[in-house]
Amino acid sequence: MRILGIESSCDETGLAVYDTERGLLAHALHTQVALHAEYGGVVPELASRDHIRHVLPLARRVLNTAQLTLQQIDGIAYTEGPGLAGALLVGTGIAHALGVALNVPVLGIHHLEGHLLSPLLSADPPQFPFIALLVSGGHTQLMRVQQVGEYELLGDTLDDAAGEAFDKTAQLLGLGYPGGAVLSALADTGNAQRFHLPRPLLHSGDLNFSFSGLKTAVLNLRRKHPDPEDQADIAAAFQVAMTDVLCAKALSALKQTGDKRLVVAGGVGANRQLRVALMHQLKSLSARVYFPELEFCTDNGAMIAFAGAMRMCHGQGQTAGIFSVRPRWDMTSLTSNKIMEY
Ligand code: KG4
Ligand code: ZN
Repeated sequence: MRILGIESSCDETGLAVYDTERGLLAHALHTQVALHAEYGGVVPELASRDHIRHVLPLARRVLNTAQLTLQQIDGIAYTEGPGLAGALLVGTGIAHALGVALNVPVLGIHHLEGHLLSPLLSADPPQFPFIALLVSGGHTQLMRVQQVGEYELLGDTLDDAAGEAFDKTAQLLGLGYPGGAVLSALADTGNAQRFHLPRPLLHSGDLNFSFSGLKTAVLNLRRKHPDPEDQADIAAAFQVAMTDVLCAKALSALKQTGDKRLVVAGGVGANRQLRVALMHQLKSLSARVYFPELEFCTDNGAMIAFAGAMRMCHGQGQTAGIFSVRPRWDMTSLTSNKIMEY
């Protein structure tokens, strides 16, 4: 079965073709980072318009790469939510239009399910069950992934997402948007011992996160130490505080469930200090951490095509036609929709 996947929930247009027998045949991505950079964040209307510009050319590109015609596609999976309503409508509208034209089923996928299953696309995929630490610009969650369709939310952020905290802190330090990677590079040159920043909810006893207070603490520190030569030390103090909290909560999740595999998904998973700390700390639990390829960690069409293929090969999908999107969509509702075999 060959599934065309369409991701358009935020600021990346991703298209892919996944074949249940041959694996991922092609994927292509267009990122809008440059478009939104001058505004310091994603502008929803600009995002929607840009998805409209890119979705069909990218669809053509993946079909060419996979050496397939549209008529050889057996189903279409698209991100139905959560995300920006206008952006979601672009992918959803195209999916349904193609579904009607080709007379193939369509299936709306939960964006986070795509992220949770994305490690299975990598060259060295983890076995089930595993704990997923999802740390992106929009999400910070700890989930237990039992199998395809069976997910348990263990912890969530009460305010900012981890990537958002990196980006807002980078902005406070005048490093531009999105500044996570730049902040991280600066932090690696600084002295993390000089300033101490809070580790929010470190001892809360649950697996939730909160990062907005940390950002305020950076703002206060910056006011006290405005000199350019202090920036790297502030960045380093921020990075080590984030790393401590993310590692501690991920380790608690492993201890609590007894699982031995941790998957880190999302753009913050690129953070070098976080990677090193997790690899080091998981050894004490005889557990292993998996970092999927970055192209599958951040938003992409392959994870949507894959999640769609896993569900559609078990008969899920609907006749294309009337559609809606779910900008807010609680992931726990998916578990009643689980699939027994993978
Ligand atoms: O998964 P992703 O593409 O997020 C969403 O689309 O939601 O990841 C993007 C996020 C941004 O917030 C970015 O600043 C952050 O990941 N990021 C990093 C690093 N590289 C990207 N954060 C910390 N350290 C990095 N090296
Ligand atoms: Zn995402």
